[in-house]
Amino acid sequence: MSLLQVEDIVGGYGEADILHGVSLHVDPDEIVVIVGPNGAGKSTAMKAVFGLVHIRAGRILFQGQDLRGARTVDIVKRGICFVPQTENVFPSLTVEENLEMGAFLRDSGIAEQKDRIFELFPPLKPKRRQPAGTLSGGQRQMVAMGRALMLDPKLLLLDEPTAGLSPKFIGQIFDIVHQVRDFGVAILMVEQNAKQALAVADRGYVLATGRNRFEGKGADLLADREVAQAFLGG
Ligand SMILES: Nc1ncnc2c1ncn2[C@@H]1O[C@H](COP(=O)(O)OP(=O)(O)O)[C@@H](O)[C@H]1O
Ligand SMILES: [Mg+2]
Repeated sequence: MSLLQVEDIVGGYGEADILHGVSLHVDPDEIVVIVGPNGAGKSTAMKAVFGLVHIRAGRILFQGQDLRGARTVDIVKRGICFVPQTENVFPSLTVEENLEMGAFLRDSGIAEQKDRIFELFPPLKPKRRQPAGTLSGGQRQMVAMGRALMLDPKLLLLDEPTAGLSPKFIGQIFDIVHQVRDFGVAILMVEQNAKQALAVADRGYVLATGRNRFEGKGADLLADREVAQAFLGG
């Protein structure tokens, strides 16, 4: 059984639908990426999983249970955490305080989980008492992911984790994504750096105008001429 199964969802933010029938799935321990042009509905599809979009039709199953209509806080309790594209850390709080904020639904094991996160992201440990806003872009993303991991989710949703980072850091973020998966967390991410993202993902989906266009193994999509010409800049 898939961890997450999105079946033919239709919906949006108000009157007009943004998603016109989007389907995807994520298996345990998988890294899955959604790519596609700006405005395709990639972020909307991910927000739909997190209960932030009005869904008119279709189903979203997580571990076999329907999430449609569930409140975001209950979705988090079931094991899904979301790292938004921007403003995903509290810049004036220290690294450690950011992690503690992530534990808001946790009543025990907070110190142990914090230690696990510092083991996962060693560069954060010496900076634990520094405001998150003083860190590099790559390290801020570690804080944002670490904060989400404080709740020990089964699935992490990442919206453009490499946005605005220089090429040097982009590779570093994808390494981190792999480490997070090795930590036992499945990942669904949206990426503009489509070629690199498909190269690191197990599977990918190409979305355009709120619909599925292509799907397959990351490497197969990269090698597909039609996908390359239409969506990957040749
Ligand atoms: N909060 C919102 N309210 C209304 N419309 C939105 C909102 N967020 C995004 N949209 C619209 O939904 C469409 C898809 O946006 P989005 O899912 O962010 O695309 P992508 O992530 O693929 O670039 C766009 O036309 C965008 O203007
Ligand atoms: Mg987006």
